[in-house]
Amino acid sequence: MKELVEKIEKKLDEYIPVSYPEEIFESMRYSLLAGGKRLRPVMCLEACRVFGGDIEKAIPTACAFEMLHTQSLIHDDLPCMDNDDYRRGKLTNHKKFSESTAVLAGDALISFGTQLIIEKSNLPAETILKVLKEHSISAGAYGIIAGQIVDIAMEGKPYNAKTLEYIHTHKTADLFKAVLKAGAIIADANDEQIKSMEEFGQKLGFAFQICDDILDEISSFEEMGKTLGKDKNAGKLTYTALFGLEKAKCKVNCLLNEACDILKKQGISSEIFNSIIDSIKKKVNR
Ligand code: IPE
Ligand code: IPE
Ligand code: MG
Ligand code: MG
Ligand code: MG
Repeated sequence: MKELVEKIEKKLDEYIPVSYPEEIFESMRYSLLAGGKRLRPVMCLEACRVFGGDIEKAIPTACAFEMLHTQSLIHDDLPCMDNDDYRRGKLTNHKKFSESTAVLAGDALISFGTQLIIEKSNLPAETILKVLKEHSISAGAYGIIAGQIVDIAMEGKPYNAKTLEYIHTHKTADLFKAVLKAGAIIADANDEQIKSMEEFGQKLGFAFQICDDILDEISSFEEMGKTLGKDKNAGKLTYTALFGLEKAKCKVNCLLNEACDILKKQGISSEIFNSIIDSIKKKVNR
């Protein structure tokens, strides 16, 4: 895990040098290199490895997805969205730069990722097209944006489990599914294997977002690098708001067990996937 994270950090830094107009590159680098957990790119590389692929070929794609994820965070923090002042332990992008720069840095990170996949992947054109499809669908109105718009629309509204699952699936699990599928595609995995990554990503991503809802109530700024306790005040539709902490913890454990079963069924043995699952379990069952 540590090795993969270091590899990704190095590449992210390398891929976006500062040039004119400096403000946009500095703002993109500020949030991108602020030290996230890098779960999504690590999952992409690991999905490639478990199906026998060369992870070097998945690096541009893994980094493109981390850029897309960082965009979703920059925009999620904007005053018109969740209005947050801290992210990854530092001032949010719009606080450090300006709202206009933060909007543009987010936009630029998405298209930079697309460019990276096209220019830096040493892969057949057909594979690149399939990867781009995963990237663009997860970024757009069928993916993160679908989840985010309903998340905002539901603030302060009556709770409903179906809408909650819709929000969590799209705002978070869709990106998990896309990175895992992209890694499998790069490894030339078969349709059943790709499908298994989609199912695994749904369980893991849903569990991850419920864990984030739980940590918003029980964690600290030091651990999370962002201001906590905000979901309740904003009247957000979260798993804990709907079912309470204990049921939320049970749901995370249940989803993670189901995620493990999917791996077992495929005969996938992965220390990295296991350690991601264990780290979420530890966080909620403390
Ligand atoms: C935060 O994701 C956004 C959610 C989907 C809850 P992460 O917790 O993976 O954030 P970083 O990348 O480590 O900063
Ligand atoms: C995360 O939802 C979803 C995206 C960033 C797309 P949250 O709004 O709960 O994420 P945090 O808690 O701000 O990281
Ligand atoms: Mg949000
Ligand atoms: Mg938020
Ligand atoms: Mg949250």
